[in-house]
Amino acid sequence: MTHQHPVALVTGASRGIGRSIAVMLSKQGFRLLLVSRGLEGLEKTARLCADGTPEGIVLSTEDLTQSEAPRRIIQRAAETFGRLDLLVNNAGAVVSGPIGSYTLEQWEGVMGLNARAPFFLMQEALPLLRAAPRGCIINIGSVVAKAAYADQSLYSASKHALLGMTKAAARDLGADGIRVHAVLPGGVNTSMIGDVRPDIDTSELISPDEVAETVRFLLSMEGNAVIDELVIRRATKPAWPV
Ligand SMILES: NC(=O)c1ccc[n+]([C@@H]2O[C@H](COP(=O)([O-])OP(=O)(O)OC[C@H]3O[C@@H](n4cnc5c(N)ncnc54)[C@H](OP(=O)(O)O)[C@@H]3O)[C@@H](O)[C@H]2O)c1
Repeated sequence: MTHQHPVALVTGASRGIGRSIAVMLSKQGFRLLLVSRGLEGLEKTARLCADGTPEGIVLSTEDLTQSEAPRRIIQRAAETFGRLDLLVNNAGAVVSGPIGSYTLEQWEGVMGLNARAPFFLMQEALPLLRAAPRGCIINIGSVVAKAAYADQSLYSASKHALLGMTKAAARDLGADGIRVHAVLPGGVNTSMIGDVRPDIDTSELISPDEVAETVRFLLSMEGNAVIDELVIRRATKPAWPV
């Protein structure tokens, strides 16, 4: 790994979709700053990445519901690598229940992680992304940002917020040459879906590697064509769900 290799920051990289994206990016030659609360999961992800040299992969245990976390994380990227080419806002959490059931604490936790953290990570990352040859932001949303799902009002609110900021940021940053994409999966086979939709047969779920593959595809598009959002459904779900 040299200072010429691009650098990606992936949040929520200790398992699930974030781990698959990190492993995919390492194969594409990215150096990585991987973020989550738990160190053990991050270390496992680092072992799965193609080049686990300390210079190539840096692990950052941060709780993204803490308002100061985005500033600290981007500072770490600046100090360690001196550059940032790609920000993947992937960390997220879900709490389910009818709209009458949520507490203010749950609102703050889900909105803080799924909406506030990506917003301020984007903001803090701007100087580095502007200096990168091809700055890029990929926000991992959800189909709940498009379709109505019972018992998902809080999670839906957070993912609508994420999609909204993604759209506006894409307009704001296009002139800087920074591309901003939304990836909106349906049910993916991770611990998150097991908690929320135990009714879905896991053999029907999208694999985290399939989501990572869509990220790889977005990054491969270096010409005049841009795909702003990708909606990914399970093959067993009726077409055009949103
Ligand atoms: N699974 C699905 O069906 C599905 C569908 C559509 C969209 N998504 C979205 O995809 C993204 C990844 O989900 P996933 O299914 O891979 O979930 P997951 O397996 O539960 O992984 C969530 C990741 O976020 C991290 N995280 C959670 N709370 C955090 C916090 N407070 N601070 C920092 N990191 C935190 C977790 O690490 P730690 O616990 O170590 O902090 C973990 O690495 C989320 O944004 C989710 O909304 C998932």
